[in-house]
Amino acid sequence: MNLTVKNICCIGAGYVGGPTMAVIASNCPSIQVNLVDINKNRIKAWNEKNLNKLPIYEPGLSDLILKTRGVNLHFSTEIEKCITNADMIFISVNTPTKTKGIGAGKAVDLRWIESCARKIGEYSKGLTIVVEKSTLPVRTAQTIKDILKAYEDNNSKRHFSILSNPEFLAEGTAINDLECPDRVLIGGDEEYAIEALENIYLNWVEKEKILKTDIWSSELSKLIANAFLAQRISSINSISALCELTESNISDVSLAVGMDKRIGAEFLNAGPGFGGSCFKKDILNLIYICNHYGLTEVADYWEQVILINDWQKKRITKKIIEKLFGTLSNKRIAVLGFSFKANTNDTRESPAIDICKDFLEEGCNLSIYDPKVEKEQIFKDLIINSENYSKLETTDTIEKACLNSDAIIVMTDWQEFYKLDFLKLSKIMRKPRFIFDTRNVINLKEAKNFGFRIWNLGDGSFQ
Ligand code: UDX
Ligand code: ADP
Repeated sequence: MNLTVKNICCIGAGYVGGPTMAVIASNCPSIQVNLVDINKNRIKAWNEKNLNKLPIYEPGLSDLILKTRGVNLHFSTEIEKCITNADMIFISVNTPTKTKGIGAGKAVDLRWIESCARKIGEYSKGLTIVVEKSTLPVRTAQTIKDILKAYEDNNSKRHFSILSNPEFLAEGTAINDLECPDRVLIGGDEEYAIEALENIYLNWVEKEKILKTDIWSSELSKLIANAFLAQRISSINSISALCELTESNISDVSLAVGMDKRIGAEFLNAGPGFGGSCFKKDILNLIYICNHYGLTEVADYWEQVILINDWQKKRITKKIIEKLFGTLSNKRIAVLGFSFKANTNDTRESPAIDICKDFLEEGCNLSIYDPKVEKEQIFKDLIINSENYSKLETTDTIEKACLNSDAIIVMTDWQEFYKLDFLKLSKIMRKPRFIFDTRNVINLKEAKNFGFRIWNLGDGSFQ
């Protein structure tokens, strides 16, 4: 059997679906790509003329949208129609952790996946390849298969083939990660379907980089890749605390350790803890699966990665309270950066959320500046009660955030925080003025010359 894909439908126009489909459309002009979503506002924003109003911020994305939108990339809420016309359907809907019921706080909530599978079953025609893009628990493909099997029948010649094709893009570098991937992983059990997807990637990815596996190994590889990355961050963060107590410096330690090519230099930057929609969710999922199969020791091992991540955030809050003379009540802290990392407007699981919530609980006033996160999002993430409302302010410049504040805390490594104007800031902040740098971005000597008291994460000389 041979299938040349001419029409793709991607369900879920979010941080994964949006950039992925833009890159496919840009590299495959002969394929029509329809990106659909149940969220009307999101689709409206994707269709905005003003490219600054796209629903997600990702460097390089707006150029691709300009090139492909209305040509072979279309954004719509007509889910049923787009499913019917597609030979290949990507599922990239959200897969958050369950908040109630069995497995709450650990297992993935599959309700969005299931509802997609049923819709695909109802509206697709003929041969359809269904591709799992969202990160999913191992064996979810089986669930999708089981649902779709019920819709197959010989009369209408309907047949579904399921592939796992996990996305490894990181936000902030998504376009580059998609254009030049380290690898593309395709898991499946029907050769024609695997080949059809491989042929799409071959438009811009070298053949050697395309790995083909069984479907379960593909699903598991994605979980494990994220777990390993998160583990590196928790490892280096745990050592950051030790550096502070032993007058050593975490940046030097990272450099020295990472120069061993068996270890590698990337993902060794200490910080306030990992955020983003994937790491915590995937590790919780891994723990859940291990417990399910009776591998309690393995589950406990991976749980430590999350515990250290939570501990790192709490440790920072405690350190700041201690430095600010034991109380934050009625003090003002300028928070620089709110997204979970630089170059994205995504705040999911951002360490800034937990730390700012703790500050508010302590009675602190916060003025938050982030170059890309909308005010509404910050309020949505932080407001817990009406009392806190008056204590929270967002600003559109660094200076306004710092005006009359006692301290600055750098939460995200946005480029503009590397070159703060200490002269200006020293004139508008209250004395004694503090800087808490959780990302190692501040020019420490310069800040010190302007009279700032400094705490630099993982740096024994600035405690
Ligand atoms: C991650 C994976 O990298 C990607 O392959 C997967 O597809 C989705 O999950 P993402 O969450 O977008 O991507 O961002 P990533 O760059 O991995 O950063 C995650 C978190 O770790 C951020 O909060 C970041 O600030 C933090 N981090 C990263 C560190 O604290 N130190 C580092 O050295 C690297
Ligand atoms: P991710 O980071 O995985 O891309 P997002 O939350 O950014 O996650 O995007 C997932 C998108 O999937 C959301 O825009 C959501 O509205 C959409 N979605 C969820 N369920 C469905 C569904 N059944 N049909 C269409 N779109 C859906």
